[in-house]
Amino acid sequence: MLVLGIETSCDETGVAVVENGKALRSNVIADQQLLHARFGGVVPEVASRAHVDLLHPAVEQACAEAGVRLGDLDAIAVTIGPGLAGALLVGVAAAKSYALALDRPLIGVNHLIAHVYANVLDHGSLPAPAIVFVVSGGHTSLLVLDADGSFRMLGQTIDDAAGEAYDKVARVLGLGYPGGPAIDRLAREGDPSAVAFPRSLIDDGSYDFSLSGLKTAVLRHVRAHQGELDVPGVAASFQEAVVDVQVSKILRATAEERLDTVLLAGGVAANSRLRARLERAAAERHVRVLAPSLRLCTDNGAMVACAGTFALERGERTPLDVGADPNLRIVPGVGRRAARRPKRHQRAGARR
Ligand code: KG4
Ligand code: ZN
Repeated sequence: MLVLGIETSCDETGVAVVENGKALRSNVIADQQLLHARFGGVVPEVASRAHVDLLHPAVEQACAEAGVRLGDLDAIAVTIGPGLAGALLVGVAAAKSYALALDRPLIGVNHLIAHVYANVLDHGSLPAPAIVFVVSGGHTSLLVLDADGSFRMLGQTIDDAAGEAYDKVARVLGLGYPGGPAIDRLAREGDPSAVAFPRSLIDDGSYDFSLSGLKTAVLRHVRAHQGELDVPGVAASFQEAVVDVQVSKILRATAEERLDTVLLAGGVAANSRLRARLERAAAERHVRVLAPSLRLCTDNGAMVACAGTFALERGERTPLDVGADPNLRIVPGVGRRAARRPKRHQRAGARR
């Protein structure tokens, strides 16, 4: 079964062809980073317009690289949410057109669930039950993936998503956009104990996350040390504070839920410190950690095609009058309100 996956929820135009939900035949990512970099974050209208320009060439390229023609495709999978409304709509409208013109089923996919399914492309299947940590530019959610394939929410961020915090701190440190990879790189040259930043909610017994206090602490530190700032040290110390809380809550979840597998998902799952610290700590407790390869952590069409294939196999079909849902949740009714909708200050500031 050949499924075309279309991803346009934010600033990456991703199109891929995946065979049988597992084999990557092509994975085209037309990123728009240069377009948004001068604004210091994603400008929704710019993203939507860029998707319009980039999407159809990306579909052609994905098919050419996969060695297939449009008529060979068995289904069209597309991200229907969460994400930026205008950006999502471009992908959804295009996917509907392909589905209608080719007379193939349309499968609407939840972007966050697609991030989790990226693991299938690297590891062959989705182990369940497992603890799942979805950590991206717009989300930080700790969940249980039950044996029946359903998700149960343990906790999530009560303010900033992790990627959002990485992007904002990188901006304060003058590291440009997107901030996560820049902090990850620079932190390797810094001392993670250079500055004692707060670890919010680390011992509160909940599975919730909070990063706004940490973000403010970094800002205060930067203002107080103008001209003598140890930028690698601040980057490493900020990252260490984020990772400390993440690793602690993930491991507590494995113990309390009596599960021995952790699945990482989302752009921030590419963070080298999180991967290394979690793998080390988990190994001591005989817990295995699975994460997508780096190129499949951030937004891409392959994860959408993969999640779409599994939905198709479960008999799911999406009607052609489906709309985009910018606030779609992983677990219906449970989630961060208005997630990933950029606030006014974020348009000229951090990513989301
Ligand atoms: O999943 P993703 O591509 O888009 C969303 O669904 O939001 O995640 C993008 C986020 C950005 O905030 C980016 O800075 C962050 O992932 N990111 C990282 C790293 N690579 C990407 N954060 C920390 N370390 C990284 N290596
Ligand atoms: Zn994403």
